[in-house]
Amino acid sequence: MSDARKPADEKTPRAHPKVTGEDALPGDPSREEQIARMIRVDQAGEYGAVRIYAGQLAVLRRSGSGEAIRAMAATEREHLQRFDDLVADRGVRPTALQPLWHVAGYALGAATALLGERAAMACTVAVEEVIDRHYADQAERLGDDEADLRGTIEKFRADEIEHKDEALAHGAEGAPGYELLTGAVKAGSRLAIWLSTRF
Ligand SMILES: [Fe+2]
Ligand SMILES: [Fe+2]
Repeated sequence: MSDARKPADEKTPRAHPKVTGEDALPGDPSREEQIARMIRVDQAGEYGAVRIYAGQLAVLRRSGSGEAIRAMAATEREHLQRFDDLVADRGVRPTALQPLWHVAGYALGAATALLGERAAMACTVAVEEVIDRHYADQAERLGDDEADLRGTIEKFRADEIEHKDEALAHGAEGAPGYELLTGAVKAGSRLAIWLSTRF
């Protein structure tokens, strides 16, 4: 097949290993700052996830979804532990907004759970869809100089996709006002990512 007929996504082999931040333009954050931002926002996000599930469990502990939510919460605690370690090992400044995510995450979890089990699952679908994109984007930007971190992010991304699929299997799409609810939660999640990357 001539080059012209190759599918657009078939990239030519790289002449050298990919380095994080190699495509940076003048004025972009440095490689170190880009990586610190990733670790900061990911720790914040996993912290928020732990708080969302805590809020859901406060309401739904004894419901039919209790077991599934407890299992997802356990994964999120593992994710958070890993990013807590990365923050400590690399001396990354953690987000200044942790007190906000402490309250907002729990409130989001509890509020959606009060709307019912399906609404709680719809919240999970929305959050995990945003995180799936977020982690995919980070993995794409990380180079071979950060293969370990990239591996962690790819593994966690697979876990988040599993959570989303499980929430769908629990009837998330049957939640009243599904589109409105997931749209709002996605917008909130994107804002939280934007804020935690910078602050
Ligand atoms: Fe997670
Ligand atoms: Fe998750």
